[in-house]
Amino acid sequence: GDRVVGAPSILSADFAHLADEVERARRGGAELVHFDVMDNHFVPNLTVGPAVAASLVEATELPVDAHLQVENPDSLIPAFIEAGVASISVQVEAATHLHRTLKLIKSGGCEAGVALNPTTPPELLGWALPYLDYVLVMSVNPGFGGQRFIPEMVQKVRRIREMAPVPVEVDGGITAETAPLMVKAGAQVLVAGSAVYRGDPAAEMRRIIEAGRAA
Ligand code: DX5
Ligand code: ZN
Repeated sequence: GDRVVGAPSILSADFAHLADEVERARRGGAELVHFDVMDNHFVPNLTVGPAVAASLVEATELPVDAHLQVENPDSLIPAFIEAGVASISVQVEAATHLHRTLKLIKSGGCEAGVALNPTTPPELLGWALPYLDYVLVMSVNPGFGGQRFIPEMVQKVRRIREMAPVPVEVDGGITAETAPLMVKAGAQVLVAGSAVYRGDPAAEMRRIIEAGRAA
């Protein structure tokens, strides 16, 4: 469908030139920037936080989508709201009081998302569905770019779309080859890091979006 949205993940971009890297993907049709936040506790990697998010929000016209791969997300959410991001997702495995966390995100005027690790069952979303704006299906284990797509995640997207008409964002191993599988299963937002920044980001982003829209 043509509701498909392409979102470059900054994880695979040159962090010294973030605004330029995002602009390159925007020229390829990107409509959202996926901003990976890692704390070296929830995942064994460390990236960037609210200060960099605030600078990027100022430097791009695209809405910024913060994916919090951190423990205790509640303590960071106010700073990301203050930074001006458009949406914030938390990993359900790290959110002890998910309802409170989603209300906190919404109270700041941001869209609230819930991210699921590959083996986390979608049924866990049940009682949170009325309070979330999108579901982020991880199709690799969070922590690193450039990993191989986990094929069972196509069925997980389908299952979530059977549960509720909620927008689904997919993240991990998304390429022009895997994007159509996820779109056919009901995904709307395609996050891609290594597949965008391995070559010319505009051309690679466009290829992924077109493959998704042709599905
Ligand atoms: C992984 C991150 C992803 C990552 C995806 O923890 O959440 O956003 O950038 O990278 P690729 O597209 O290379 O799998
Ligand atoms: Zn991500």
